[in-house]
Amino acid sequence: MEVKKQAELNENVERIMITAEQISARVKALAAQLDKLYEGRTPVVVCILKGSVMFFADLIREMKTPLQIDFMAVSSYGKDTISSGKLQVKKDLTVNISGKDVLIVEDIIDSGNTLYQLKKMLNTRSPNSVNIVTLLDKPERREVPMEPEYKGFVIEDEFVVGYGLDYAEEYRNLPYVGVLKRSVYEK
Ligand code: IMP
Ligand code: MG
Repeated sequence: MEVKKQAELNENVERIMITAEQISARVKALAAQLDKLYEGRTPVVVCILKGSVMFFADLIREMKTPLQIDFMAVSSYGKDTISSGKLQVKKDLTVNISGKDVLIVEDIIDSGNTLYQLKKMLNTRSPNSVNIVTLLDKPERREVPMEPEYKGFVIEDEFVVGYGLDYAEEYRNLPYVGVLKRSVYEK
């Protein structure tokens, strides 16, 4: 087992923080909670591209409640532009969410800026509810009040990759969440 793990470990990953097995168990538990929450309703489950693609695909397959899916690509300009509410929408929803229960699926909440602004923006479209589920949460880094309703793992302030998360668009296909070696980005 140890040998296999080492062989799977990407050379630029310092250590595995969360294994594929741990992720899978947590995803099942979250899906059960969400099934309970949305009982009798048909939520629109929104994948925030690209980072949450793995989490999203695994989560919706574990959910038993009828649901619809949609995709969004957004980025925030960070702290300085919060007052102006600058959120860049690179790809918008195609489903009309008016009167619907929306579940935003995110990979990681860091400063909180992206989701803070996204939630505000989606709320202007008269949904019945907007909830957030994030795989990872780095609460130490928060710059705005943003508390996700559901989260997979609370992690320390370290830069992680894998299971959808990238550094310069790479490492998304690693099956685990790992800490990237500092040497990779401190050049
Ligand atoms: P926020 O607006 O600062 O909360 O930004 C969240 C976004 O930053 C996430 O959707 C990720 O794309 C990116 N991000 C933040 N921390 C990490 C990390 O440790 N690894 C990879 N991407 C990260
Ligand atoms: Mg990203």
